[in-house]
Amino acid sequence: MRLLVYAILLVHTSFLNKKVTSLDDDTDFFENQTVNNTNSIIVKTIVVDQFGIGNFKTVQQAVDSIPSNNKEWIKIRIRNGIYNEMVTILMDKQKIYMEGENPLKTIIQFNQAGDSINDGTFKLFADYFLGVNITFKNTYNNASSRINEMKIAPAALIMGDKAAFFQCIFISLQDTLSDGLGRHYFEKCYIEGAVDFIWGAGQSIYHKCVIHVSGQLKELAGDITAQGRNTEDNTSGFVFQKCTIVGSGKAYLGRAYRRYSRVLFSRTYMSNAVVPQGWDAWKYKGQEDHISYTEVNCIGKGANQEGRVKWGNKLSRKQIKFLNNRDTFINQDGWMANIPKVL
Ligand SMILES: *[C@@H]1O[C@H](CO)[C@@H](O)[C@H](O)[C@H]1NC(C)=O
Ligand SMILES: *[C@@H]1O[C@H](CO)[C@@H](O)[C@H](O)[C@H]1NC(C)=O
Ligand SMILES: *[C@@H]1O[C@H](CO)[C@@H](O)[C@H](O)[C@H]1NC(C)=O
Ligand SMILES: *[C@@H]1O[C@H](CO)[C@@H](O)[C@H](O)[C@H]1NC(C)=O
Ligand SMILES: *[C@@H]1O[C@H](CO)[C@@H](O)[C@H](O)[C@H]1NC(C)=O
Repeated sequence: MRLLVYAILLVHTSFLNKKVTSLDDDTDFFENQTVNNTNSIIVKTIVVDQFGIGNFKTVQQAVDSIPSNNKEWIKIRIRNGIYNEMVTILMDKQKIYMEGENPLKTIIQFNQAGDSINDGTFKLFADYFLGVNITFKNTYNNASSRINEMKIAPAALIMGDKAAFFQCIFISLQDTLSDGLGRHYFEKCYIEGAVDFIWGAGQSIYHKCVIHVSGQLKELAGDITAQGRNTEDNTSGFVFQKCTIVGSGKAYLGRAYRRYSRVLFSRTYMSNAVVPQGWDAWKYKGQEDHISYTEVNCIGKGANQEGRVKWGNKLSRKQIKFLNNRDTFINQDGWMANIPKVL
């Protein structure tokens, strides 16, 4: 049911596509990408099939088969199925392209919680990663009996630089997507949770993603983001372009996990899952000057500015343009040209 909603929303986000002002970075990634770059060639494909009709039965076995210090793109094609395993990609396994058959049916899930690093179902430490059509899930907090003992349970922990995800689904309740460190791009992904469910010091753009605020906390408001920029010259931040925020729970758009927390929502539809105040300074009350939380061209009940905290929306037009553009914010050195074309 929930995932049907996801499919519908992906279609509906097209209503956010209109380019209205020059603040928009309007194109989907592959729309204008003329990929003709030898660095994006896939040299090998490994098939994972849990019924044994591939090269390996588990995703981790496929990862382990890739040589250390790998230099060229290797695709791991995962056939539909529920893979009950943790998958870790260490730093020496660069250039892995992991692709499911169908994001609703290729599922990597695990049930372990309590630690924000070790308990992630999927853990990425290598640079250069491409993920397509996969669900990453941490099932720990799902049991309703566990609400009072909700734990940190990441579905994915992304610590490598230069990672991109297309049509992936991230599901948990607390710390779902640990966008920890490095430059990342998410397009048409679905992210579900209740507490700090997109958090960390990542430097990331979320383009046309669906953000689902879980209703599992009932009337308690959680936080969609907990961005961890800790100094003024730190380049991290989360930028949401043309996203859709829905769900039966309530949440702040963000809480200041670190002193210079930076989050931009641009042309995003916000349902009333977003609380009127919008943002929470958390430990940094009285130091809101350092926090860069901005909304531009957003629509929907949750985007109403009447009840909003007064210290948001401080970024200049120039700063917004810088953040809201792939080439200036995350693709300064052109690494995205090396992303293999997703068919
Ligand atoms: C994308 O391609 C179209 C058609 O070639 C062009 O008009 C437009 O300027 C391009 N946009 C970007 C961001 O490069
Ligand atoms: C891509 O590059 C190759 C080699 O440089 C060239 O032969 C080919 O025509 C190019 N293809 C496109 C679509 O530009
Ligand atoms: C991703 O999943 C969609 C929906 O099942 C499918 O149409 C598409 O071909 C898949 N993409 C790849 C690269 O397998
Ligand atoms: C949670 O558990 C219920 C009942 O077992 C199941 O139907 C549902 O799909 C699960 N949700 C998630 C997010 O795993
Ligand atoms: C930003 O802060 C994070 C978290 O403290 C740190 O690991 C990272 O190196 C910093 N990055 C830059 C570019 O300053």
